[in-house]
Amino acid sequence: MLVFASSDKGGTGRSVTSCNIAFHLAQRLDVAYLDFDFGSPTSGAIFEIPRAERGVEREGLHTYFTDGITDPRRLDVWRQTTRQDLRGSNVRAGRLAFFPGDKGGAEFGTTREIQQRCVELFTRLDSEFDVVVVDLSAGRSAALTMALMATAQPSMRGVTARWLVFHRWTHQHIVAANGLVYGDRGLLAVGKSAGHDQDTLLDAIRFVRVAVPNLREHNPGQTAAQATWLHACDEELRKLAVDNRLGRSRILGTTPVEPVLQWREQIIAESDVSAKIANAGTVKSFRELSVRLTDDAVWEGM
Ligand SMILES: Nc1ncnc2c1ncn2[C@@H]1O[C@H](COP(=O)(O)OP(=O)(O)OP(=O)(O)O)[C@@H](O)[C@H]1O
Ligand SMILES: [Mg+2]
Repeated sequence: MLVFASSDKGGTGRSVTSCNIAFHLAQRLDVAYLDFDFGSPTSGAIFEIPRAERGVEREGLHTYFTDGITDPRRLDVWRQTTRQDLRGSNVRAGRLAFFPGDKGGAEFGTTREIQQRCVELFTRLDSEFDVVVVDLSAGRSAALTMALMATAQPSMRGVTARWLVFHRWTHQHIVAANGLVYGDRGLLAVGKSAGHDQDTLLDAIRFVRVAVPNLREHNPGQTAAQATWLHACDEELRKLAVDNRLGRSRILGTTPVEPVLQWREQIIAESDVSAKIANAGTVKSFRELSVRLTDDAVWEGM
């Protein structure tokens, strides 16, 4: 299965959430994580692999696409991470392979040849791994178009592809997420011109609300006026989400505001929760997203 992580805005939490989802998936499945954020390939920092935190020196995904090498570099996260509590693949059920971009790599134009390499890469990795997570650049990027064109190829019809659209719980992000999916040159429009059936593609798209404030818990530092204002704001955003066709039935899940992630992009492991540094609810939300992602019932047509 291919999972594409997209967002209209940058800095939505697309990479951090996707890395955490990949981490949970890899507890039971073989997972590949591809850094297709070609303009800024920094997902290695989230897996805490220092030599790849801005991409690798040679033979990353940029080189694969632009120079035509046969195999892009892959790093075994369980072995390469400097986080002691994540190391040791032997105790894990599944593999977690990270495919970095190149250090200094930039966006590149898509030629027919590059397109074909993309199809070959997706096809190969889909047969080697249970889930292939592809972290795309933000917005209507060349990476997004390339992924839509590749998955529309007749040779890829048998491969399951699911699309996640990440957005924050704010007015601007909700409107932007609508544009990315339903707007001009958005996912559905580009998908259709690439050869996708629009209804089938729409059924394969779910939204993820990132860093949603919890209004149920009493916040002692808050005035009554602030609490009332926040509840009204939340209600307004719910209506806005429905009007923008990203309401409850279209969401895969939500993540709470996590203080650790406000300071540091990382995998939130059980050890962070037992040390009382990260919140249990954050790990629960990542785990739930990983379960729903692979639950076919969640993805049945709407
Ligand atoms: N649940 C959360 N609570 C608080 N902060 C979060 C949460 N999820 C992500 N963040 C933080 O938001 C910031 C942006 O996240 P991230 O880098 O994953 O976004 P992105 O969409 O991949 O951005 P870019 O477009 O730059 O690649 C990071 O500092 C990250 O740690
Ligand atoms: Mg990112």
